[in-house]
Amino acid sequence: MSFTTRILKVDPTSIKFVNGTPEISDKETLTNLQTAAHELTTTHNAIGFPTETVYGLAGSALSDESVKSIYKAKNRPADNPLITHISSIDQLKRKLINYEIPEVYRNLINHFWPGPLTILLPITEDCPISSLVTANQDTFAVRMPSHPVARALIAISDTPIAAPSANASTRPSPTLAEHVYNDLKGKIPIILDGGSCEVGVESTVVDGLVDPPMLLRPGGVSLEEIKQVGGGKWQNIVIAKKTAGKLEPVKTPGMKYRHYSPTAKVVLFIDCGDGQEEIGNYIKKHNIDIDATKIALLQSKSFKSNPKFINKELGVTGNEISHNLFKYLREVDEEDKVDLIFVEGVDETNEGLAIMNRLSKAAMEVVHGK
Ligand code: TXA
Ligand code: MG
Repeated sequence: MSFTTRILKVDPTSIKFVNGTPEISDKETLTNLQTAAHELTTTHNAIGFPTETVYGLAGSALSDESVKSIYKAKNRPADNPLITHISSIDQLKRKLINYEIPEVYRNLINHFWPGPLTILLPITEDCPISSLVTANQDTFAVRMPSHPVARALIAISDTPIAAPSANASTRPSPTLAEHVYNDLKGKIPIILDGGSCEVGVESTVVDGLVDPPMLLRPGGVSLEEIKQVGGGKWQNIVIAKKTAGKLEPVKTPGMKYRHYSPTAKVVLFIDCGDGQEEIGNYIKKHNIDIDATKIALLQSKSFKSNPKFINKELGVTGNEISHNLFKYLREVDEEDKVDLIFVEGVDETNEGLAIMNRLSKAAMEVVHGK
């Protein structure tokens, strides 16, 4: 099906939650949220919406047809399960589970919900979630987003929402409504435009149902924070293997696919000081004519700018770099239309783990310094 994609403006600052219920002071925001909720509850079409991590592509988690629309619009392989989003613990219990949330998650939920943490919960026989959301696993992934627009949309439609990032499969995740438009125009009827996503990388996915618990995807909540506040078992949390080998069972199926890739070739430089020497060597080794090649340089702490390149500062802190990462990858790719993107790697501590996870998947080549 082909759509005329409408971008509907919403103002996150006009939404307040009182006892878990959204109160919306701006009229346009209210109308547009109602339009989006109506689309979700009366059709099977997927729609774009902002979360605090990245823009998501929403459909009812309870409907096979809605979930099919998500996979179709993104062109995503159907064996990669989706995260279900809820607006409150009350909604999670009313709509999805008939058991108490496992004790192991108590501290994490108290600290990080609403927010960028996704947990795995068991699927029971009477669970109404579409098996297309879970890709037939015996668990489902769930989070309560903190973005007021996301939470209000889920509360108003009173529907648990399945939502992957709203990019076309393999592309960098979208952190602005225009990124979603670039990838999915004509494929979805509505994008709610709530401005730029604060966090900039997706949620952290953890599995506390296994012992030791597993970090399935690093993201907006750091491993260090999880160890610090999780208590008990979380001290021993294990990082899932970055790339699942061909013969191993795939715990997070997302790991075996190419991800986050701009059209331009991304080269990631790790431990390369100010970058001068390694970038110079790279250009020589590949016989790159820098007068005829458009090159972007995404720097953080140490790389020096180069007048021949399009230089972008990702920021210095982990929060800044996370916030800018996908935005600048897309900007130099889609607007500047560069041929090559050189990126400065960061330490894999705190926010750095999620940043390097995304960068190593986006990169076609990695250069290690000393
Ligand atoms: O921040 C986010 O999480 C964004 C926004 C839109 O909320 N959503 C997002 O969803 O990134 P998605 O579908 O692109 O990522 C889901 C991740 C994948 O790595 C997937 O393999 C994993 O969660 N996942 C989902 N269900 C799972 C399950 N039952 N077991 C293991 N991994 C699961
Ligand atoms: Mg994604």
